[in-house]
Amino acid sequence: MFNKKLIAMILMVCLSLGFVGCQSKDNGVESKIDQIKKSGKLVIGTSADYPPYEFHKEVNGKHEIVGFDIEIAKEIAKDLGVELEIKDMRFDGLLAALQSGNVDIVIAGMTPTEERKQNVDFSNIYYTSVQSVIVRYEDKDSIKTLKDLDGKIVGAQKGSIQEQIVTEQIEGANLRALGKISDLVLSLKNNKVDAIVLEKPVANSYVNKNLDLYLTEIKFEEEDAGSAVAIKKGNDDLVEAINKTLERLINDNSIERFVMEAIQLAE
Ligand code: ARG
Repeated sequence: MFNKKLIAMILMVCLSLGFVGCQSKDNGVESKIDQIKKSGKLVIGTSADYPPYEFHKEVNGKHEIVGFDIEIAKEIAKDLGVELEIKDMRFDGLLAALQSGNVDIVIAGMTPTEERKQNVDFSNIYYTSVQSVIVRYEDKDSIKTLKDLDGKIVGAQKGSIQEQIVTEQIEGANLRALGKISDLVLSLKNNKVDAIVLEKPVANSYVNKNLDLYLTEIKFEEEDAGSAVAIKKGNDDLVEAINKTLERLINDNSIERFVMEAIQLAE
């Protein structure tokens, strides 16, 4: 009798211990990388209005999102051993999508500002560019300096650092912030805005495609803007894995090649 009780007790203790052990495995935080691997895909958030970083393109009769950010994302997915899924959205909605878990990472030519770093983590910078200003071709002689933008309507993408540049570095300018760069470009053509602040490769790309637009020589202070991958806070393993992929792509000049190929593709 006593023995039976004892055995039962021991059994119960063992069971409960085992159970706890089991539970802690299931409930314990599964790393982000494990989650991604289990799902078999890496979901990226991007804003594909940004050639040559990311843009829409008909490739062999098929509609695709292409660009050097996308090539980098493909490599990150490849190194993780999973497929890539792209979610295209407005730039100003990207970080919310990251926070809510709607996307695993954001890769959208995003600059790792101190303000953003309070809410999300960033990889190392994989590409750096400068800011520039585009205008209508017919205004190329009247808008040549920052001073010429005084009293003008200057466009920038909503939620971007360019928005801040307009308000902080162009005296007398009236900011017009829109969600999509394509809409800003349309507004410029329709005389609704007089200039747009854009990262140089993007400015180049839109000017090449639109002969009625012109890239000015206007420059800004502290104009360097790096691009980095944004990751939800608390996923150091994923940040580390992404940095490893980026390091490989920087060291073997792949990023440089991706940029050149994307510029050609955007033409
Ligand atoms: N680098 C700028 C920023 O971080 C603009 C990026 C816009 N990217 C895009 N895919 N539209 O604010």
